[in-house]
Amino acid sequence: MRHILKSQQFDRPCLDKLFQRASEHRKSFAKPRQHRSRGYFLQDRILVNLFWEPSTRTRLSFALAGLHLGMKVETTENAEEFSSTVKGGSLEDEIRVVSSYHPDVIVIRHKTEGAAERAAAVSQVPIINAGDGAGEHPTQGLLDLCTILWEKGYLDGWRVVIGGDLVKGRAVHSLVRLLAKCCENPSFIFVSPPSLRLNEDTKAYLRKQRVHFIETESTREALPAADVVYWTRVQLERYPEGERQRYEDLARQYAIGLEELELMPGDAVLMHPLPRNEEVSPDVDADHRAAYFRQAQNGMYVRMALLEWVLEE
Ligand code: NCD
Repeated sequence: MRHILKSQQFDRPCLDKLFQRASEHRKSFAKPRQHRSRGYFLQDRILVNLFWEPSTRTRLSFALAGLHLGMKVETTENAEEFSSTVKGGSLEDEIRVVSSYHPDVIVIRHKTEGAAERAAAVSQVPIINAGDGAGEHPTQGLLDLCTILWEKGYLDGWRVVIGGDLVKGRAVHSLVRLLAKCCENPSFIFVSPPSLRLNEDTKAYLRKQRVHFIETESTREALPAADVVYWTRVQLERYPEGERQRYEDLARQYAIGLEELELMPGDAVLMHPLPRNEEVSPDVDADHRAAYFRQAQNGMYVRMALLEWVLEE
């Protein structure tokens, strides 16, 4: 069974194939509907979305990816409230039961780190991790990397400036590991206040892969050196309520607006997993470097390729 649990389970040859397939899907949408041939091997297969945390992009891009491939889709979008978890059912029990109804794949998002691995341990069908607490968000990492490929033309040698909540930002954890494992010679500048610095686990991974990185609090110092800028929001919901105001204030200190945009090279690309708060001003949306809406759209093409990869015999 092929699960998708962590970004570093992939290797470069696999990514090359996935992104090639995602590109074919993207191109197919330029054709009239009747000429979009996507192969029919996923016709009538069943995808179940189980989301214990809020989501727009991940949930709907998986659902639509499935539908475009001819699959059938069933979703619980607020499992925290509407599944039997509310009555005390464990994650393991939920997965045992749902997977016994013969779906073909289950996509789960959960507030607890390690939840997708726990699910995979008891599931009869493949599990796709759509975000496990502050842990990982592998399919986001994959769509981010694919966006770097499509925006910049290739994947290797980039200096990537990553800012925001690097402790709890699971999208960052997945992307950093993917770049470190699958790309040649990446380097990182991490921008955050001290309390939001990259978690030790991910830093240890970078050291093991011998990837160069520095940490700074200064957005203005980091931006002029960037090939790729990846900005993120503070994960307010993951901090105790009493601390949220302090974190919101911190977020304002590293916002990207028109002045910061001026500091970025003309061929850099500005990415964000969305949703954004105040850390990227809508003023920069019209700039050609602002790639976050293209990035979100790429997510569906990449997820189409991932569903095929998970379900191929
Ligand atoms: C991200 C997530 O859920 O981790 N959102 C997403 O899937 N695009 C980022 C975030 O919530 O900040």
